[in-house]
Amino acid sequence: MPRRKFEALAVKLVRNGQGIVAMKPFRRGAILCEIKGKLVTGEEVWRYWETDPRLGENCFRYDADRYIDPDGEIGQYANHSCNPNAGIVKQGRSLLLKAVSAIATGDEITHDYSTLLGADDVWTMRCNCGEANCRRVVRNVGKLPAYTIRKYRRLGIIPDFVMATRRRT
Ligand SMILES: C[S@@+](CC[C@H](N)C(=O)[O-])C[C@H]1O[C@@H](n2cnc3c(N)ncnc32)[C@H](O)[C@@H]1O
Ligand SMILES: [Zn+2]
Repeated sequence: MPRRKFEALAVKLVRNGQGIVAMKPFRRGAILCEIKGKLVTGEEVWRYWETDPRLGENCFRYDADRYIDPDGEIGQYANHSCNPNAGIVKQGRSLLLKAVSAIATGDEITHDYSTLLGADDVWTMRCNCGEANCRRVVRNVGKLPAYTIRKYRRLGIIPDFVMATRRRT
């Protein structure tokens, strides 16, 4: 279980295993929590695939070369949706989970993993989000449809360092 307590968030069983659930309503734009954890290099994440792939799956891209391993923190339970109600924004040195729509008590809080998968990230996931616009397979940002990129950029939930990977590859 997470070491940090977030009064308004809980970890509960949801559609895709454990997930983060709102314990109070949040307005669109509200900061829900910070994604905390250990900063690791891309090489360390590669090693996770050999030792404990689950650890690799949990990681959040932090910048060009580093990832946050949220093991033991609330971010470990953040599930993906192709129609998310939250997204990740980078403010200064912090990754923050921010509501991109109004969230009701009891709603699962999800973000779109592709917004943090650089075009140089090779990880993919078969998606079971159940949304009408489900992409079925979650791939990196380079594979997102242009209209989805535009929508997410307007919402501010594709960090610049992720966008930059599209130009490098
Ligand atoms: C950061 S963890 C989230 C917590 C996880 N649900 C658990 O119970 O530990 C990421 C993992 O959750 C699962 N997951 C998250 N979103 C999913 C989705 N939309 N469809 C299928 N599996 C999902 C995948 O196994 C993924 O590797
Ligand atoms: Zn989906």
